[in-house]
Amino acid sequence: MIAVITGATGDIGREFVSKLTGEVDQVWAVGRNEEKLAALREEYGDKILAIKADLSSAEDILSLCRRIQSDRPEIKYLVNNAGVARMAPVSEFSLEEISCMLDINDKAAAMICRAALPCMTEDSYILNVASASAFQPNPYITLYSAGKAFLLSFSRSLNAENKGITCTAVCPGWVDTQMLPRHSKGKEIRYPGMVSAAKVVDAALKDSRRGKDVSVCSFYYRYMRFLSKVMPHSLEMKLWVRGIKKYI
Ligand SMILES: NC(=O)c1ccc[n+]([C@@H]2O[C@H](COP(=O)([O-])OP(=O)(O)OC[C@H]3O[C@@H](n4cnc5c(N)ncnc54)[C@H](OP(=O)(O)O)[C@@H]3O)[C@@H](O)[C@H]2O)c1
Repeated sequence: MIAVITGATGDIGREFVSKLTGEVDQVWAVGRNEEKLAALREEYGDKILAIKADLSSAEDILSLCRRIQSDRPEIKYLVNNAGVARMAPVSEFSLEEISCMLDINDKAAAMICRAALPCMTEDSYILNVASASAFQPNPYITLYSAGKAFLLSFSRSLNAENKGITCTAVCPGWVDTQMLPRHSKGKEIRYPGMVSAAKVVDAALKDSRRGKDVSVCSFYYRYMRFLSKVMPHSLEMKLWVRGIKKYI
């Protein structure tokens, strides 16, 4: 019985590795950086099967999916956690950058889910790490936010399609990880309601075991989710832009 974790070398990914290694026989740790993968092997030994894959590459995504399909391991947990973000207007992205971001944040997750489904039983879990930015459109993180909205919608539908296999969209707000820039335009960036990676992962695993299709780990962002349902998105976008204006 195994866990497959993408972005296993990142801050949230390593928390998933740490929480799940005790529960499964092996963790397929997927990452693009050999040194970081080797560090995981050093820490957890044979429990880690390191798989090098750049999820912005169609070839690497397919080869990971084909490996799952040919080895047919019993997958207890699939965690699609790899992700990239950049705060900038869409006009400043190159075409290649847009393609890479959508491939890593969305295409890879959808394809790995598809490949993994036949290897899962009624007691298996898929956790797709989306974001609270999926709850409404967010200008200047437009591509990231829209991509996470895809993942949220995809996860909830997948959960409904597959009775027994729980699929949860993990939607934290700001998380204290290396993904977040700390300064912009000479100013220190403030992240309201920021939580630790450990808190996100604890809540995500608890919520998925309870059969929830969405996990939001803090009261602050549960409230934000509520607001996104009752407040016009045009107003939410104005407030968001006002809050981040000084950083862009
Ligand atoms: N931090 C936040 O505030 C926040 C909030 C909501 C949701 N999230 C989501 O949480 C997830 C994990 O992010 P994190 O905060 O833990 O940041 P992180 O530490 O930067 O982790 C990101 C992970 O994605 C991997 N990755 C990036 N590009 C890749 C590629 N081309 N191929 C394969 N793997 C790739 C990274 O690999 P390397 O180690 O090689 O860089 C890393 O393992 C992401 O999906 C992110 O969108 C984060």
